[in-house]
Amino acid sequence: MASLGDDTVLLRWLATERIGEAEWPRLAALLDDAERARAARFHFERDRRVFTAAHALLRATLSDFAEVAPRDWRFSIGEKGKPEAILRAGDAPLRANISHTRGLAAVALTLDRPVGVDVEWVKRDSATLEIAERFFAPDECAQLFARPADQAEDTFFAFWTLKEAYIKAVGLGLSLPLDAFAFSLDAAGEPRGIAFTPRIEDDPACWRFQRFRCGEEHVMALAVSDPEPQRLAVVTEAVDPAALLARAEAPTR
Ligand SMILES: CC(C)(COP(=O)(O)OP(=O)(O)OC[C@H]1O[C@@H](n2cnc3c(N)ncnc32)[C@H](O)[C@@H]1OP(=O)(O)O)[C@@H](O)C(=O)NCCC(=O)NCCS
Repeated sequence: MASLGDDTVLLRWLATERIGEAEWPRLAALLDDAERARAARFHFERDRRVFTAAHALLRATLSDFAEVAPRDWRFSIGEKGKPEAILRAGDAPLRANISHTRGLAAVALTLDRPVGVDVEWVKRDSATLEIAERFFAPDECAQLFARPADQAEDTFFAFWTLKEAYIKAVGLGLSLPLDAFAFSLDAAGEPRGIAFTPRIEDDPACWRFQRFRCGEEHVMALAVSDPEPQRLAVVTEAVDPAALLARAEAPTR
């Protein structure tokens, strides 16, 4: 069993195009009955598949760091919907968050800290400026509208994924007003920091935010809270499904 460093945030992603036909039922076998029932309710197979990939990735990743078989994990659901793995006495204080979008699933894992991840498929037909004006903070809209046209889409998805990663880390979902906090981006579109309006009691100094690009079609953001966020090491890993399954199906599991 591997151990997760106290100062480590592990970010793994799994592209569905890397998953072979014979691997899908093996990934589905890592889920519990309730998840399989949820998967079955998706209308489109691509949605069913990425949901399956995300939940298999979550379970297999947790099992890399605890003596629990992937399908045996149970989760409690917070007041606003955030799932947390139920740990036994003696388990490392693992905390994880998943995100899935067309073609990509991701999991962020850390020890005992609020963590959130968001992935988005950038080819979606999104009415960029309309959505920004509706959901983003005024200062974010001003930054977006000031960018050259060829950077507008990347800037939009930077704000979108960072905002989602933050609300997912705090676990409050959309009950948190999206215009009550604002990110600032540097010239390269990387997060410089977050500012809160008085409607949110939080401390910008306790947060670490990072963006990632996964190929041409996906962007991702991570949010993690720590008293000294800059000491955290973020370890990223594009997951090989065969290797993930080999560990998840090992007899000791
Ligand atoms: C539910 C929400 C937390 C994430 O939704 P999302 O971006 O569509 O979905 P993601 O794939 O990133 O994350 C889904 C996973 O987050 C987890 N999750 C659910 N509620 C959560 C919460 N309150 N906090 C953190 N994580 C949560 C679950 O594991 C869920 O997986 P599941 O649906 O397969 O069980 C919420 O933020 C939401 O509904 N967002 C809508 C997007 C939007 O309108 N954004 C406006 C522009 S910024």
